[in-house]
Amino acid sequence: MSVHKDVKKVTTQTLREMKERGEKIAMLTAYDFSMARILDDAGIDILLVGDSASNVMAGHETTLPITLDQMIYHAASVVRAVKRALITVDLPFGSYQGNSKEALNSTIRIMKESGAHAVKLEGGAEVIESIERILTAGVPVMGHLGLTPQSIYKFGTYTVRAKEEEEADRLKKDALLLQEAGCFALVLEKIPSHLAAEVAASLHIPVIGIGAGAGVDGQVLVMHDLLGITNDFSPRFLRRYLNLYDDIKGAAERYIDDVKRQDFPNKKEQY
Ligand code: KIV
Repeated sequence: MSVHKDVKKVTTQTLREMKERGEKIAMLTAYDFSMARILDDAGIDILLVGDSASNVMAGHETTLPITLDQMIYHAASVVRAVKRALITVDLPFGSYQGNSKEALNSTIRIMKESGAHAVKLEGGAEVIESIERILTAGVPVMGHLGLTPQSIYKFGTYTVRAKEEEEADRLKKDALLLQEAGCFALVLEKIPSHLAAEVAASLHIPVIGIGAGAGVDGQVLVMHDLLGITNDFSPRFLRRYLNLYDDIKGAAERYIDDVKRQDFPNKKEQY
């Protein structure tokens, strides 16, 4: 049941109400105009201009190389397409850590130059000062805990986080800190489902999971994974709704064949 399908524009308040009513929040990543237009038309609640653009759009191994200028380019393309969804943009690696003034400046550039509605950043206690400073400018902030890909070289692997009690306790404390600082929502990535459910139940802000089980307030996936454009990434949490890698390859092969056989263009396809 979708209580909010008829809302004109999704806001942070809409999301809070969805949590209160028990309506799950659907979030996907988007990086370009054409895809964002389709996803918005489908009724997605939140579009995340994720720094996963570094992987799926630019072909980097990690999310670290993407720049603030590149994030703004992707975000502005998404903003031009969207009528309804709340658009949240990842602050890229190096644009906010350890320097709250830089965090605010990076956020102001994103908001002014792209027209997006909110920012997301990774981390707990260590980024609270940055979050508080961004909030002084009236910009909504989404937190991100658990597997935080910008710290991949600290973790060493992309395996499930917070399985041990010590890390789980730290995550619970960080989640509360982020809520108290004023975050409007929180992403939990790749942690045990019982822990994610406990965090979601203990907070009044919406908790959106990726690989965090069914007991949270919403789900997020990377659009390229959901559509099967990526075919070399199959974590347990991923449900593929299409297999576009094969479909697009097949279409390109047919086109190549038609051109080579001089079947395309035919008489009707020319002036
Ligand atoms: O960058 C991204 O796509 C993300 C999601 C995986 C939550 O942060």
